[in-house]
Formats: sequence, C-alpha cells, structure tokens
Amino acid sequence: MRVLLIGSGGREHALAWKLSKSPLLSRLDWAPGNGGLEPPAAAVPIPAENVQALAAYARETRPDLVVVGPEAPLALGLSDRLQADGIAVFGPSRGAARLESSKRFAKEFCLRHGIPAGGHWAFTEVGAARAWLDAYTGAFPLVLKADGLAAGKGVLICEDAAQAREALAAIMERREFGEAGDALVVEEFLEGEEASLLAFCDGTRAVLMPAARDHKRALDGDRGPNTGGMGAYCPSNHVGTELQGEVLRTIVLPALRGMASEGHPYRGVLYAGLMLTRSGPKVLEFNCRFGDPETQAVLPRLASDLLPILAGCARGELSPAAVEWARTACVTVVLCSGGYPGPYAKDKEIRGVEEAATVPGVVVFHAGTRREKDRLLTAGGRVLDVTALGHDLRTARSRAYEAAARIRFEGVQYRRDIAGRP
Ligand code: AMP
Ligand code: GLY
Repeated sequence: MRVLLIGSGGREHALAWKLSKSPLLSRLDWAPGNGGLEPPAAAVPIPAENVQALAAYARETRPDLVVVGPEAPLALGLSDRLQADGIAVFGPSRGAARLESSKRFAKEFCLRHGIPAGGHWAFTEVGAARAWLDAYTGAFPLVLKADGLAAGKGVLICEDAAQAREALAAIMERREFGEAGDALVVEEFLEGEEASLLAFCDGTRAVLMPAARDHKRALDGDRGPNTGGMGAYCPSNHVGTELQGEVLRTIVLPALRGMASEGHPYRGVLYAGLMLTRSGPKVLEFNCRFGDPETQAVLPRLASDLLPILAGCARGELSPAAVEWARTACVTVVLCSGGYPGPYAKDKEIRGVEEAATVPGVVVFHAGTRREKDRLLTAGGRVLDVTALGHDLRTARSRAYEAAARIRFEGVQYRRDIAGRP
C-alpha cells in the first residue's frame, strides 16, 4: 500500500516509524516530515496546513491511504476533499472534527447525547459574558476557554472573579488566541486524575487504546505554564479494565452514535481527554486525532500492524480482533529547547541520538528537528521524544532517562518526573 502521512511532529514520527514496520507498506510519503525522516519514508515539502496543495498532491499520486496527524488540516476540511476524490483517509471530516475545533460544539454535543461532562455556559458577545460574570455568585475556580483551536493554549483556570475578568479580556477583547476567541466557553472546574483515552473509530465501531497520561505543565511537580506536552506514559495506572469499559459505554460509543446521527460519521482517532471525578469519568475535551505526546507512548505497545487498522477505519471496516497490545509499559520524555514554552533559540546542533538509541527498549522520535547535510539541528520548542519500553513503568522510565542523559544540545531541558520520580 502507498501511504501519505501528514504532519511534522513527534506524533507523526511515531506514526511513520510504526507504519514503516508494516509488510503491507510499499511507499510512505511524509508531508512535510522532520529531521527523523528516513527510508522508507520520502519527504514531500508541503506544510500540513496547505490543504489545497495536499489535496492536489494526493489527486496526482493516488495514495491508497492518507493518514492525517494534526487537527488543523482536518478542521480545514482536508478529509472531505480527499473523500470527494475517492481517496481513503484516516481522519474525520470537517463536520466531525468540530468535536475539537469548537469547544462550544463539543459541550453542546455532550448535552445532546447524554455524555458526561462538566457544566458550561457559552457566549459570543463580550458584553453578555461580562454581565454574566458580574452576576455570578457560584464556586471558583472557573475554567475559561477560547472556543476555537488554540494549540492547547486557550484554557485559563481562574481562582476568583478578578482572574476570570482578566481571562475574559484576554480571550474576547485582546484576542490573544485570535479567532479562537470569537466565542467563549466557561466551564465548571472538575477535580480528579486526568487520563487520555484514544479510540480507533470507523464510523460505527470503536476500539480503545490503552489509557495514557500526559504531562502538560512545563516544570516538575506539575508547576509552571502549560505546554504542548512534556512527556507521557502508558498504561495509566488509574484506568483499569472496568473503567475502560465504562468510558467506551458512556463516552466513546455515544459520541460515535451521536456523530453518525448528526450526519458526520466519525472515522479516525477520537481522543477523549478525561477527568476521573468522584462521580465517574467526565469529558474535559475531545480531540479529533492522535494525542501528542501520548501517541509516542502508546504506539510502541501496539503488537499488531498499524496499517490495516488505519485503513480499516478509513474504509468503515475496522476489525477489533486486529488490534492487540503487548503487556509492556512505555514512557516518553520530551526534550525541549531552553526557554520553551516561551521564546527559544533554534539551530542548535544535537548530538548523542544514536548513542541514546542503544539503551535497551529505547527509540528516539524527532519532533522539532531538521537535518542540514550531516548535522541534526533543533527546529522547534519540543525537540525530541525519548521513548522507552519496559516490562513495567519503572523500567521504562529509568531507560528513558538513561537515554535522555546521552543527548546533548545547547539549552536542553526536560522534566525529571515523567511517570513519577525516577
Ligand atoms: P484542554 O485543552 O481543554 O484539555 O485543557 C487543558 C488542561 O486544562 C486540561 O488538561 C486540564 O488540566 C485543565 N482543564 C481544562 N478544563 C478543565 C476543567 N473543566 N476542570 C479542571 N481542569 C480543566
Ligand atoms: N497531549 C494533548 C494533545 O494532544 O492535545
């Protein structure tokens, strides 16, 4: 099979790595790729947001399957265009991707279909939002969210009314998250453990992946600003078989049925970001694609061939029996540029990646890297995802940290407490 993979992060490198192991793969085009790209993958220099050029490239080359990594091209309707051209695509239509691209849509969808989530209020007028806030006498914290896509940044947890007014101004008046702030969603604050549950979906069927946990805050002990993700591990010890069953029954399958009944059959990964509250799992957010960096900690545990699973989802014929997991644990530590998530320098030379990969069970996925002749350079905030498998989390974690210590570039920083303190 000829596959076109779209995206440029660590998630996509993990997808490329796993797809490259498939005996069914005859060609892997990767647009645009990153410094981790190596044969059999071939680079296609089109950025993930250029849906027009991607659709034209696919029309010309007729891949057997297009695998879309990030949310932006899905929200821009790439999947719809490819389907209109008769090209199989793993990744939901624009209508189905609204579960991620509009937080307001997602909240109302949960209400329509009886899916457990925290209470919410939504506003499109800044005046109405301010008046509501002035009259609010309920509990804090409150969570204020920009409605649209904001690269994980448009979520502000407010401890009191003054912080909430400031968050409202940042989102709706100063437009710090751009168009994402056209509407505002205010949410009840949920307490508990977080978990990421991802499911392969083919429109009607869903197969859950083992639960993962990511670490969004920049500093050890979950302090500091939010980031795109500083590390992840799988499985999450907070989600046993019974809870998995409950999430499938009360969240994932109702979401699939709801999407189908609203005319947007859901094909791709449905990512449920959950809070495990005292009254059961509740949806914090839906994403319409694989998580980053969860994917890097989940896919290495997949014992089956990924390609027929993705193709099955795209064609509406996912076979649950084709999805098997190894009884291992996996930990991913994200190596970042100094200063991230604030401003950071690029083009620092990276050394030690091969040496790191000699630690047993380790694979190093590239995120923000690029190659220049035979040098490997930093090209983003999140640079490398050092991933290790082990028979348990403890082993996986110590291997990941042993490997991370072998990698050097100026300013390198990473959390020391991914999957618990080593
Ligand atoms: P989101 O991008 O919507 O997942 O939000 C980012 C992070 O903010 C989540 O991983 C949670 O840690 C936190 N968060 C979002 N919504 C809530 C909520 N309603 N209650 C508590 N924490 C939340
Ligand atoms: N790890 C969170 C996300 O992918 O959105």
